[in-house]
Amino acid sequence: MCGIVGYIGKKQAYPILIKGLKRLEYRGYDSAGVAMIGECGELNVYKTKGKVDNLTEYCNDKDVSGCVGIAHTRWATHGEPSARNAHPHYSRSRNLAIIHNGIIENYADIKVRLQAEGVEFRSDTDTEVLVQLVEYIMEKKNLPLLEAVQVALHQVIGAYAIAILDRREPRQIVAARKQSPLVVGIGEDEFFLGSDASPIVEYTDRVVYLEDGNIALIRLDEELRVITILGEEQELKVKTVDIDLGQIEKGGYEHFMLKEIFEQPECLMNCMRGRINVEGNHVTLSAMIDHRQRLLGAKRIVMVACGTSWHAGLVGKQLFESLCGIPCEVEYASEFRYRNPVVTKDDVVIAISQSGETADTLAAVQLAKERGAFIYGVCNAIGSSIPRATDTGTYIHVGPEIGVASTKAFTGQVAVLSMLALCLAKERGSVSDEQYGEMVKELTLMPRKMELALKTNEQIRHLAPIFTYAKNCLYLGRGYNFPVALEGALKLKEISYIHAEGYPAAEMKHGPIALIDSEMPVFVIATHDHLYEKVISNIQEVRARGGRVTALVTEGDTRIQKYADHVVTLPDTLECFQPLLASIPLQLLAYHIAVCKGKDVDRPRNLAKSVTVE
Ligand code: F6R
Repeated sequence: MCGIVGYIGKKQAYPILIKGLKRLEYRGYDSAGVAMIGECGELNVYKTKGKVDNLTEYCNDKDVSGCVGIAHTRWATHGEPSARNAHPHYSRSRNLAIIHNGIIENYADIKVRLQAEGVEFRSDTDTEVLVQLVEYIMEKKNLPLLEAVQVALHQVIGAYAIAILDRREPRQIVAARKQSPLVVGIGEDEFFLGSDASPIVEYTDRVVYLEDGNIALIRLDEELRVITILGEEQELKVKTVDIDLGQIEKGGYEHFMLKEIFEQPECLMNCMRGRINVEGNHVTLSAMIDHRQRLLGAKRIVMVACGTSWHAGLVGKQLFESLCGIPCEVEYASEFRYRNPVVTKDDVVIAISQSGETADTLAAVQLAKERGAFIYGVCNAIGSSIPRATDTGTYIHVGPEIGVASTKAFTGQVAVLSMLALCLAKERGSVSDEQYGEMVKELTLMPRKMELALKTNEQIRHLAPIFTYAKNCLYLGRGYNFPVALEGALKLKEISYIHAEGYPAAEMKHGPIALIDSEMPVFVIATHDHLYEKVISNIQEVRARGGRVTALVTEGDTRIQKYADHVVTLPDTLECFQPLLASIPLQLLAYHIAVCKGKDVDRPRNLAKSVTVE
């Protein structure tokens, strides 16, 4: 989820590049860098850890002259956030510099091959492998940059948006894309490059969105050329953008939260990439390979987390218990750290955190560590404090989450916990091969099913105004859908400031049923699972007391509409994966209700994205 900017023209590149990086900082901000071909033909690369402001401070006394340059703001995937791993990366001779957004999956194989040929590496990134490969091909086959890039991209598996400078060709940028966005802006005697149009629109409204497999040859005083990696010339499809700057930083969405809700299918693909094989029948997690004995020897799993991450843990508990037969507890990190919990060296403690910086979760990790437990992190922010404090872990790889209300992190966490449970269950022999195969296959279908779940957006947008009057709402679910009810209620509370409770549907009659009247909306997750009939009875209990029910149901359901005021339909899936789908309409519901109420969705009052204080 890094940000890419480029400029070639008659103006000084540096100020344009820096401004562009700031616009793209939402895409990642663990490090940043620029490369410019200076007035005397030298290729200068400057990069620093941290935000773009650190980079500008660092560049204060540097030669930043030149009318051609590329720049990058990073969200680390391979290699910790550091100046060394920041982009741009030089090739061995320092004639080339590259920036990259995406993941080169077969980088390790290519690296070994190049190392055997004597190529030395200066970083831990997958990106450097690509620039070294391009240079190697240029030298070995005596090819110009464009052709060498074509050959190199044939050897690469993965996703990329790249831009490359060649010191010996100071009037040119070569850029390419596959599965990561890249836009070329066409100005008067100048060109721009961006991960999205936000760094471009202030200079020109004429843009070309590169398609997968396209390479752009951007040369000063020449027409822009777009060629496929097979060498076929493409017709230029120049589009006019008419977007307000404030909006495009959110990729055209009104709020980061909505953007992140809609990113979930892509996030899930990123989360599973390289972990579920292409045949879709096997899951591998590197933590499971490196720490097999320790993980298989777990007598108990304890999950520590806060907020939404704690809800993901509740889904994980059901997976670990039902698939692996391992006793499992889910603890609020803030309670765990101040109790005297029984934790032993036979326990595996899983710390779940989007930011990787939540103070209570970090403290819980430290306590569990002191008591000898093995610590496993499930985090999003690469190189953050919790992953650094753990023995091993799995990143969820959903990209930076900027909206304060967590959305895509929840589904990423559930996906990682599902993959971990499947790995453990397979190794322990607690699932049949058939069940394992069916579950892995179903996970691979989830991004498509999430897209279908997102199609509920319009219906929910229309329903939302009905609920803005509410002072209290009740969310009911059972089994795997109970944590979904909790999560739905939390989302509503956070951004619309309506009080909401998540409850196990059958517990309602032990208290909350007293609250039910026609003024309190009740949202019931009633998808097809082994508790379906029981949930129907719970809906009837609500109806009998004048309650107004909105139900999430599985496609093809014909019964619940008889009892519910509104029905929202979701694709069918296995019971254990229902949270991955059912959470989506509830995220949308909270979002649209908050928008209807005129609330500041991305910056809800009193909340912070990363809770680094207890
Ligand atoms: C809810 C939300 C919070 C976080 C909680 C934990 O939308 O964002 O409840 O889930 O503060 O944060 P992380 O996951 O960063 O540890």
